[in-house]
Amino acid sequence: MKIAVRYYTRSGNTQKLAEAVASAVGVEALSVSEPLTEPVDILFLGCSYYAFDADESVKSFITANAPRIGRVVCIGTSAMMRSMKKPIRRVADGVGVTVAEEEFHCRGEFGKFHRGRPNGEDLQGAAEFAKELVG
Ligand SMILES: Cc1cc2nc3c(=O)[nH]c(=O)nc-3n(C[C@H](O)[C@H](O)[C@H](O)COP(=O)(O)O)c2cc1C
Repeated sequence: MKIAVRYYTRSGNTQKLAEAVASAVGVEALSVSEPLTEPVDILFLGCSYYAFDADESVKSFITANAPRIGRVVCIGTSAMMRSMKKPIRRVADGVGVTVAEEEFHCRGEFGKFHRGRPNGEDLQGAAEFAKELVG
């Protein structure tokens, strides 16, 4: 099974999650500025909310790489939200990309809120989630 990990981050929270997942499944976590170079069965896509939406660079990554994405598995951090699937599906549905029901989402530090998140427990949870999903 071919697996890739891409992420977008502003303050490093989602990058930590992406790196925990990547190391659990034996690939490298790369920024969404790096296009997919080959088709993948699973794309772990690390992203967060900024003003109730995903960043434009995450959306354009999905659109630009759609033909090479088997399915997207969202991994993410945010201050308040519980899932990235809605904003990611809005884009993915339009270009025929499947977004898996399975997802890992946890709190991410934002100003004085959620200091230290994602923490060790979050990262371990993300790694276990990815291993189980990949099988
Ligand atoms: C400009 C800005 C807007 C944000 N808007 C939201 C939001 O609408 N909902 C939410 O739950 N978190 C929001 N957050 C919090 C981030 O999603 C959270 O801190 C996340 O962990 C950031 O991940 P990153 O460090 O990988 O960029 C916002 C953060 C910033 C900087």
